[in-house]
Amino acid sequence: MKKIEAIIKPFKVDAVKDALIEIGIEGMTTLEVKGFGRQKGHTEVYRGSEYTVDFVPKTMFIVVVAEDQLDAALKAIVTTSKTGSIGDGKVFISTIDEVIRIRTEESGGKAI
Ligand SMILES: Nc1ncnc2c1ncn2[C@@H]1O[C@H](COP(=O)(O)OP(=O)(O)OP(=O)(O)O)[C@@H](O)[C@H]1O
Ligand SMILES: [Mg+2]
Repeated sequence: MKKIEAIIKPFKVDAVKDALIEIGIEGMTTLEVKGFGRQKGHTEVYRGSEYTVDFVPKTMFIVVVAEDQLDAALKAIVTTSKTGSIGDGKVFISTIDEVIRIRTEESGGKAI
């Protein structure tokens, strides 16, 4: 099982949600977050900006998927989120050891 943490532009949230549902993803979490990347929150890099760093609002999706869903989920997220502009976001992928559905106490892949 894999965990996808995708930090994207907030106006893309609905489109990403729809794209994930379209490929059969059934559960997901979003968080309103603030961050910056290599432009340090500036919309362009300009002389004298190096001492000011601004957090920019972003939305983070957390999606845990079976390994055979990973490529499709990543493709859905990346192609839907991409505008080609700076700040489009970033995706982090990690391995999940275990999942438990509390109601049924199912675990592993069938609990996703
Ligand atoms: N190394 C990182 N660790 C944790 N969060 C990050 C990291 N890099 C970026 N982020 C998060 O992702 C958001 C979007 O990053 P962003 O797309 O600006 O990355 P970038 O590397 O600057 O790429 P670009 O040049 O396309 O803007 C940031 O606002 C921040 O929340
Ligand atoms: Mg950036």
